[in-house]
Amino acid sequence: MIVVRGKRTGQIDAPALAGLVAPYDGVTVDVGTGDGAFAYHYARAHSRRFVIGLDPVRENMREYSARAARKPERGGLPNVLYAVASIEQVPAELHGIAGELYVNLPWGSLMRGIILGEAAVLDGLASLGREGAVLRAVVNTRIFDDPVPVEARDLPEPTPGYVRGTLVPLYARRGLRIEQARLFDADELRALGTTWTKRLSHRRPPPSVYVEATVGG
Ligand SMILES: C[S@@+](CC[C@H](N)C(=O)[O-])C[C@H]1O[C@@H](n2cnc3c(N)ncnc32)[C@H](O)[C@@H]1O
Repeated sequence: MIVVRGKRTGQIDAPALAGLVAPYDGVTVDVGTGDGAFAYHYARAHSRRFVIGLDPVRENMREYSARAARKPERGGLPNVLYAVASIEQVPAELHGIAGELYVNLPWGSLMRGIILGEAAVLDGLASLGREGAVLRAVVNTRIFDDPVPVEARDLPEPTPGYVRGTLVPLYARRGLRIEQARLFDADELRALGTTWTKRLSHRRPPPSVYVEATVGG
């Protein structure tokens, strides 16, 4: 799979990745990581976990991947890696790797797939997790400034009721058992500390929906 380290990109194969993650208690994947800040800070706060930020836009991951590659005294971290990929085409090296999955404020096809319960996106998420892995997704279609992105315009409002009524069976069909769907308020959003949640901290965005699911249910 393709990984980013600052301005450079490289390849890492399955045995090399297995060697990297072996010393850790488990793997966390941040899907749609954006600039990778959440993955970086999560790795720093959870030194026993190996964290992989995944996003198709490699340029946005340059800064944090460069920071992670520095010497430890300059912010370097051995337990975070940035992979260039979309959820619809998860590299084989990542299949079944994660015990924990995060999706924070997705947009584009990741957001659509989560809200509509599309097979390509749900299969990608399920493929990342080992049996029993926990998926935590925070979704909000109304935080993006006008003009609302085209991909968000015709989407149903992802309320907890919509998740329970419509998405539970669709997710179950793709091997994801939804355990929880509830509103996620502005304070919780801020506490997540991703670049996008910080960007929103100057105003009180409408509540997001928080969905927690188990892989292999
Ligand atoms: C609003 S940004 C949020 C970034 C980060 N999670 C945060 O909270 O700061 C949405 C991210 O979803 C990513 N994304 C959109 N479609 C995707 C897909 N199909 N697979 C993986 N990531 C996707 C985008 O590239 C973008 O980085």
